[in-house]
Amino acid sequence: MGKGQELWNKAKKIIPGGSQLLSKRSEMFLPDQWPSYYSKASGCEITDLDGRKYTDMCIMGVGANILGYADPDVNTAVKKKVDDGNMSTLNCPEEVELAEKLLSLDNWAGGVRYTRTGGETVGVAVRIARAHTKRDVVAFCGYHGWQDWYLATNLKDKNGLNGHLIAGLEPNGVPKALSGTALPFHYNKIEELEALVAKHGKQIGVIVMEPMRDKLPQNDFLKKVRKIADETGAVLIFDEITSAFRETAGGIHKKLGVEPDIATYGKAMGNGYAIGAVVGKAEVMDAAQTSFISSTFWTEGIGPTAALATIAKLEKKNVPAHVVKTGNAMGDIWEKLGEDVGLPVHVDRQFPGIMHFGFDVEYANKRAIDTLFTQEMLARGFLATGGFYVSYAHKQEHLDRYSAAAGEVFKLIASAVKEKKVEKLLKGPVAHSGFQRLT
Ligand SMILES: Cc1ncc(COP(=O)(O)O)c(C=O)c1O
Repeated sequence: MGKGQELWNKAKKIIPGGSQLLSKRSEMFLPDQWPSYYSKASGCEITDLDGRKYTDMCIMGVGANILGYADPDVNTAVKKKVDDGNMSTLNCPEEVELAEKLLSLDNWAGGVRYTRTGGETVGVAVRIARAHTKRDVVAFCGYHGWQDWYLATNLKDKNGLNGHLIAGLEPNGVPKALSGTALPFHYNKIEELEALVAKHGKQIGVIVMEPMRDKLPQNDFLKKVRKIADETGAVLIFDEITSAFRETAGGIHKKLGVEPDIATYGKAMGNGYAIGAVVGKAEVMDAAQTSFISSTFWTEGIGPTAALATIAKLEKKNVPAHVVKTGNAMGDIWEKLGEDVGLPVHVDRQFPGIMHFGFDVEYANKRAIDTLFTQEMLARGFLATGGFYVSYAHKQEHLDRYSAAAGEVFKLIASAVKEKKVEKLLKGPVAHSGFQRLT
């Protein structure tokens, strides 16, 4: 067992759940075998605690590192801020400069507030929207973090978050009084939002959704949501925590042609440094002054400094074009490798900034196949799953090396599936696919 697994086992005893983020649990990738911790991360290369090097072709800091790890330009700006003092009694001027930048990217907006993490960013946006409309009920679609307003969904219907977050999640610790305040609808199903409006009418004060994730809007879905928001007087929030700053310098909504009342940004905006922003129409954002929304570390200077440097590089190097091209190239690789060995795969191509593939084979335990893929790619020096968060650090040489290794692994999987011996080739348990107790 490597040092990483030893530390992970220790962590699970003293940090409930092992990590602060479900997506970083070793069991989500490769139980008992995942390197779990890093000693160094640079570009798209990661060194584990045993000094082994891997190329990260999976979640790249869970989408935070659009430029790559330890980007030299962002780090130069951040190091200067560290030396000049990242925190003081007075405010950091970078937050004003960043607000001007964000408002120039979203010219429909008039105000900005900052946070440091995605979940709290959406939490602040929902608070401001509720304060503005003076209505409690939120209609939403998709994933929006860990907060009470969102998990309250499952108080009314324990399957409410199925298809948005994780099936059957218990909303333990969320006040029961919030039951009925968050109502789900599914992406591209305008009839579900219409049904909510027909039933709850003007109780709905907020509509929260990602403008897109893995699917493009169909049948004018976003335009119809916009119209419903206008007719009911609900504040429309586009949660762009994951979708922004990948295929566009700013929100993906710019590409989709529909403007929200509030957009929330985080993750890639700071290239791994903590920064979140709520950007909204002036009249809506004004409601922030009628509520108490205030936190010490929302004022520190590293977050906005990193965001300014990240956005500047994103624009200067036309990172979105690189990301789209590289994502599509990866899709071609998966399809070709699958064809080469007669292993059917499906590739989700609608959002090249985050590519996904899956094995389309008949097999009793499909998760075992995914686990075998991760195990064998790890043995060949790659952190790899069915998802690929593209970054500027991923160049053709990485795709070429990945393609050579994945070619071998696809071949191995094709024969293991045929001979029904996938489980036999696994050196540890099958990866988890959702939320489970770890200890
Ligand atoms: C759309 C969306 N909203 C909110 C969040 C929560 O962000 P964080 O994990 O930074 O709290 C995420 C994270 O994946 C997300 O994708």
